[in-house]
Amino acid sequence: MAELILGQVLRFEGNPMEDGPSAARHFPRGAVLVEGGHIRAVGEAEDLRRAHPAAEVTDCGSRLLSAGFVDAHAHYPQTAMIASWGKRLIDWLNSYTFPEEMRFADPAYAAGIAERYFDLLLAHGTTSVCSYCTIHPESVEAFFAEARTRGLRAWAGKTCMDRDTAPQGLRDTAQSAYDDSRRLLERWHGVDRLSYVITPRFAPTSTPEQLSALGALWAENPSCLMQTHLSEQTDEIAWVKSLYPEARDYLDTYETHGLLGPGGLFGHAIHLEPRERDRLREVDASLIHCPTSNTFIGSGLFDMDGLARAGQRIGLATDTGGGSSFSMLRTMAAAYEVAQLRHRALHPAELWWLATQGSARALRADDRIGNLAPGMEADIVAIDLSSTPAIAQRAAQAEDIWEALFPTIMMGDDRAIATVWIGGRRVARPA
Ligand code: GUN
Ligand code: ZN
Repeated sequence: MAELILGQVLRFEGNPMEDGPSAARHFPRGAVLVEGGHIRAVGEAEDLRRAHPAAEVTDCGSRLLSAGFVDAHAHYPQTAMIASWGKRLIDWLNSYTFPEEMRFADPAYAAGIAERYFDLLLAHGTTSVCSYCTIHPESVEAFFAEARTRGLRAWAGKTCMDRDTAPQGLRDTAQSAYDDSRRLLERWHGVDRLSYVITPRFAPTSTPEQLSALGALWAENPSCLMQTHLSEQTDEIAWVKSLYPEARDYLDTYETHGLLGPGGLFGHAIHLEPRERDRLREVDASLIHCPTSNTFIGSGLFDMDGLARAGQRIGLATDTGGGSSFSMLRTMAAAYEVAQLRHRALHPAELWWLATQGSARALRADDRIGNLAPGMEADIVAIDLSSTPAIAQRAAQAEDIWEALFPTIMMGDDRAIATVWIGGRRVARPA
């Protein structure tokens, strides 16, 4: 049975980072027709009602219908230690992250956090995520099992660390990382809406042998994405230099081991050398901007303007729990603030695109998710643009959709998420 969802509709017909805000299309009284888990039509409510009189109608009133948010870099195992105080990257990892990740050796603990994580994700309107797990295969099983139950399009991989820079109890080996990753990949990659991602945590916690083994695994499975961290903090970069004295730069530690390619996802990418920028652009790898994390851990200011102008492929992400929020609204606000500090005001259309189509494009899935268009998978959110008194009083003054949307971008959270559809199925609070 087809469902016709009525509301304000926001969709993209181009890339506002390149074409400006007119790449977005707003239907003040629009509709989305959903059937068989996919979007069949998007347009004026009146036209679609007339063309599809038998469809079941869900009227969301003045709520904004958009593609669900796509979070291109997260650590679901860090759910329980998000917002841990006072450390910078390396101390933060050692003090908070690694002790929490050790708990995922217990499959019951992993399953409990996976369930909690997906509850939070959907409450915040995020309908797709690409997550790190821990070194434990159990953590990957827990993530994919939960994502599959809920029908999400999701990406994840076993985080690999074999160097003595990682604590004992949180280390694999080059061989076991290869073997476990391969087994998990064969078990989960392409099952329903799930994809396996080859996941060396970052160069400082892997030996060159492990990076090579994972590079070989990627070469054997080129349909997989590969995710890792790159140039997040300056002391991390100095550390990489001391551990890999032969490397030309941080990116070279990945490049020389077969871990630079078009399906590469490089989290943070703040303090890049010109050679690194050039190579990332040449191979068309994805840079994942994690602005709440970058301010929270004190990492630095991502060069959105310069990198976007250079034609880099850029996604947006929470990086929970280095990031301080599960919300892609809050993440858009932080992206706006970080860009402002570099003298570039991102337009609401650009921010919204980054949180939906941009992240989907970074994950090479923009033909399936991240937009409201015929043929796309029906992952949809209905957003309340007056979800708090502070937002409502500002939005009431708005003269166009962007002025109406921007207060929700800057001040909104899970209270703004009215309804969520995953693959055409409504999963949260009815409209
Ligand atoms: N670099 C290596 N591991 C991590 C992590 O878990 N979070 C962040 N923000 N950076 C990292
Ligand atoms: Zn991360």
